[in-house]
Amino acid sequence: MSTAQHYAIPVAETGWTFDGRSEVQFTWEYDEGRAALLGLYDKGKKQQWDAAERLDWSHEVDWENPMALPDQQIPIYGTPIWEKMSGKERAELRRHLQAHTISQFLHGEQGALIATSKIVMTVPDADSKFYAATQVMDEARHVEAFSRLLHDKVGLAYPITSGLRTLLEQGLSDSRWDMTYLTMQILIEGLALAAFQRNRDVSGDPLVQAVHAYVMQDEARHVAFGRLALRDYYPQLTEAERAEREEFVVEACYHMRDRFSQREVFENLGMDQETLLDMFRGSEVMQQFRARLFTRIVPTVKDIGLWGEKVRNAYADMGVLDYADFDAEELLAADAKVAEDLDAQAFVARETGKGLGASAAE
Ligand SMILES: [Fe+2]
Ligand SMILES: [Fe+2]
Repeated sequence: MSTAQHYAIPVAETGWTFDGRSEVQFTWEYDEGRAALLGLYDKGKKQQWDAAERLDWSHEVDWENPMALPDQQIPIYGTPIWEKMSGKERAELRRHLQAHTISQFLHGEQGALIATSKIVMTVPDADSKFYAATQVMDEARHVEAFSRLLHDKVGLAYPITSGLRTLLEQGLSDSRWDMTYLTMQILIEGLALAAFQRNRDVSGDPLVQAVHAYVMQDEARHVAFGRLALRDYYPQLTEAERAEREEFVVEACYHMRDRFSQREVFENLGMDQETLLDMFRGSEVMQQFRARLFTRIVPTVKDIGLWGEKVRNAYADMGVLDYADFDAEELLAADAKVAEDLDAQAFVARETGKGLGASAAE
């Protein structure tokens, strides 16, 4: 069924276009690649997978809670409003919140698809162009997987939020190649990794876990690529050029913290905005959740050398400075391992003739 029939609210900006200026760079040096980047390119080639085959799409989800997430994660859980809701109303809210989340993942993946194809054009070195080409295919696969999850298993969609739209527009309008990396590979993908991780580790549904785990396996490679490329590049910039990037990081992080909410769902379901906003501000669960979204971004930003006073002060103000001590490489390696473990489980399930659901439930 067409996505248009699934949108819970009208897709207001169907004709969204903007000037994505870029400087196309050819390279004539084909034989001088950096070992680390070429290693990632090799990995990218070997780890290609087919979303139609690696995932068990025959699995049925629970229509009242497709992502099988605990209600404790719903921002208004346990409040007087929640207590007054009937079972049917709670199921409706659950489905809408989950549809909203998966829709933003889907739109974000399309953004990544477009950003990476732009990187192929604008980045100066052959090794980076090679790597980015594998990522273009990865992102198309992610769009496919989330689109199928949304259409077949949730049956409801939300348009892109203005917060995500603004960030994508900023990253894609800047003609400098490193700004596309910084916005996409470090900030948006860093945020996505943390959000995907929540679904992967908390969902009780084997298909939902697997979609997120497999996508994360690729994303871990993408963030690693952004880290390597920018870690080489940023020390070469002048103080003023680096300060401009730091300013952008600070603004983008506050933007993600403050503008990435699910207010469209509550608005659509006719819930009072002011009461809800007060509740969100006072909710510890929500504050912790927002802080956790930065677990992947903070150590990476430190690692690529955008670690001036302004950035450190902003992270301290947001209460996320401690994440700077996380070992970014270790986190990314763990993401790859979870996907490999799921493959092993699926293999056992196939060999013993049991479905994936059976093997995960045992
Ligand atoms: Fe992706
Ligand atoms: Fe990605």
